[in-house]
Amino acid sequence: MPDNPPNASLLKGQDLNRAANLLREGRLVGIPTETVYGLAANALDEAALKAVFTAKNRPYNDPLIVHIADAERVGEIASEFPDAARRLAEAFWPGPLTLLLPRAAGVPDLVTAGLPAVAIRVPSHPLTLELLRLLEFPVAAPSANPFGYVSPTTAEHVLDQLGDAVAYVLDGGPCTVGVESTIVGFDGPTPVIYRLGGLGVDQIVRVAGRVQVQQQPGEHPVAPGSLASHYAPRTPVVLGAPSLEGRPPETIGALSLNAHYDGLPAENQVQLSRVGDFSEAARNLYSALRYLDGLDLAVIYAELLPETGLGLAINDRLRRAAAARE
Ligand code: TXA
Ligand code: MG
Repeated sequence: MPDNPPNASLLKGQDLNRAANLLREGRLVGIPTETVYGLAANALDEAALKAVFTAKNRPYNDPLIVHIADAERVGEIASEFPDAARRLAEAFWPGPLTLLLPRAAGVPDLVTAGLPAVAIRVPSHPLTLELLRLLEFPVAAPSANPFGYVSPTTAEHVLDQLGDAVAYVLDGGPCTVGVESTIVGFDGPTPVIYRLGGLGVDQIVRVAGRVQVQQQPGEHPVAPGSLASHYAPRTPVVLGAPSLEGRPPETIGALSLNAHYDGLPAENQVQLSRVGDFSEAARNLYSALRYLDGLDLAVIYAELLPETGLGLAINDRLRRAAAARE
């Protein structure tokens, strides 16, 4: 991984006009959202889109989410906006909800990986909403991390890993949700969740009355962010409470909601939320994985949370982080 470039402080800030102009020139800009930081490019500029895939080392069959300022602009990129989708948008945009809608003509194949649907969301972050309002085009933005690695939740995370690829990072402070958006498609009027995320299943049910959850860990998933091994630190992750046998305690890390493990150094343990609050846990998840990964441990043990509310999305990320990599 590259170290922070020496002029890192010049590469981040809150200059919206600078960010907008760079995007107009086809450059890449890190943008804050409530979920994770995105690596933004003009969604209609094929050269800029290619640069996104190159910077992330991301395969072209993994499509990108398009970010817009408000639901009024859905018609620029989707050919239909069915009532079932509109109701969710009204309830949860701006917010951690991505809708899969039939793509409009003119959306580059690079954005959708040739799929018939385009992924769209209105992120809830004041700086980025302001930026999107300034722009004449929609913005494609995957999470601003190398493909398969832990997602960034601060501007520094983006510079640490993609500092060579971005022209600028709009610094909006730490992300308030901390896990990616929930991706929702439709089977007729029924919402289908393809990626668990910052918007809870229960919240969608409250508005839509029902929901299917259809995560696809296969090789050609509808939402490739559902690849079995994803969101992974370099250090091996093992699910469960730490086992202290066979390894020196200094080489073992532990991550949990709020457990304390006797026998492990305090600095090797991260509690996602001392008071057991799942929102706080989600907010801290990726920083915690990065922190533990930075300790050069032999193994990180991660205890799953109860499977309710945001616990579902957090556990999903922990399971994928623990899945063996090729
Ligand atoms: O919270 C988020 O969604 C963040 C912020 C930056 O908005 N973005 C994000 O993007 O997580 P990314 O690229 O890391 O994950 C997007 C996921 C991928 O798994 C991709 O396969 C899926 O969305 N996706 C994108 N377009 C799709 C499409 N047309 N059909 C199905 N899945 C799609
Ligand atoms: Mg991602």
